[in-house]
Amino acid sequence: MQVDFDPYSNRWKRDPYPVYRALRDHAPVHYCAASDVYTVSRHEDVQRVLTSTEMFSSNLRRRQQQMLTSSLRERLWLMARFVTKMRIGPRTLVRARMLIQSDGEVHALMRKIVNRGFTPRRIEAWEGRVRELAGEGLERLRARESFDLIEELAVPLPVTIIAEILGIDAERMVDFKRWSDAIVAGGTGSGMSDFGGAGFDAMVELRSFLRPITRARRARPGDDLISLLVTTEGEAALDDFEVYLFVLLLLVAGNETTTNLLGNAVEALLDHPDQLERVRRDPSLVPGLVEEVLRFDGPVQFINREATQDSELREVRIPKGAHLVVLLGAANRDERRFPDPDRFDVTRDTRGHVGFGFGAHFCLGAALARLEARAALEVLVPELARLTRVESEPEFVDSYLIRGRSRIALRPAA
Ligand code: HEM
Repeated sequence: MQVDFDPYSNRWKRDPYPVYRALRDHAPVHYCAASDVYTVSRHEDVQRVLTSTEMFSSNLRRRQQQMLTSSLRERLWLMARFVTKMRIGPRTLVRARMLIQSDGEVHALMRKIVNRGFTPRRIEAWEGRVRELAGEGLERLRARESFDLIEELAVPLPVTIIAEILGIDAERMVDFKRWSDAIVAGGTGSGMSDFGGAGFDAMVELRSFLRPITRARRARPGDDLISLLVTTEGEAALDDFEVYLFVLLLLVAGNETTTNLLGNAVEALLDHPDQLERVRRDPSLVPGLVEEVLRFDGPVQFINREATQDSELREVRIPKGAHLVVLLGAANRDERRFPDPDRFDVTRDTRGHVGFGFGAHFCLGAALARLEARAALEVLVPELARLTRVESEPEFVDSYLIRGRSRIALRPAA
């Protein structure tokens, strides 16, 4: 059976799960000519690709540049424009390490530095603040007749926490959200081929915003994450531009994902009132609920890899240089791994879900995301039973790889 699927298309956005099933059953490794990518959909294969880091690299810079434009001249022009706006030399750009796009020893070294900012002890220390913010979000909701859950709670919670972890004025939260939306749309959504667009402007603004802060922290370090990064010495030391790239990564990886985990959890609970009732009666099920949402309808639907050599997977030849789209969202619904996978069940055994990725690049912020989601859902679940959606067409986040609603309007049930 021929399966038609392109991960860089909005055609399957509303409900990608039926096509994922067809892929797993009939084309577990599928070549999509329109986007020139190979999709991998079975749980076993997804884990294999993500642990074969020598064969499947996280460094997709070359590929991303090619996706922007096939003309070398144009690429050089774009690069020149980028370094000018970023106020860096071309060497700084070429040498810059970015955690999520590095492999092997470089990755291990960087990960060691940034792990220090996300130890269980550090995350635990944020618990009180996270609960306080979740409580404030709830008060805002209660004060309104109808409200947008995304705007009132799911956005401010992670954005404020990231800003505070970085030691940045939370007053700039609105800018943070605007930048991260524009960067997500520019890097993974409709703006992907428009390099000079809003995503680019947001990256430039963030750079101007961070330059003086990074400089000030080098001179007088505090207790925040930027200080921790700029005071690391030896070969692991990050230069200003690498610090910027890391903050950019946190902004995108940490905000959009957690916001959408909360949104997707609320959607799933509203669609499954029996499960909502179970959690409402027994709040100790909230951690299980969070894991089930990561499996059932996770915010990160896929991640990318590049083949470093010719190989074969499920009898499909994958040439060196090929772009692989690793479908986490499909692997999490694989019946070979999770019985009755399309059933949303807050008590199921979700171990092995790949909602946070797998292997060396496993999500750095998983513990923080879990803490935020649990705190928010603990306060939300008792409210949800009395709420209903203000019916409207679902609006989705402008991204191919991030899944979630950009708005969830709710009001008290009649
Ligand atoms: C529900 C929320 C989240 C989800 C679903 C999620 C998902 C993921 C996934 C799938 C990866 C693997 C990327 C790859 O292998 O290429 C990843 C990596 C990463 N995540 Fe998250 N994430 C979430 C929240 C966060 C938060 C709150 C932060 C930080 C504050 C964060 C920071 C990162 C970073 C820095 C990486 C790169 C790790 C590395 O390359 O070693 N994430 N995340």
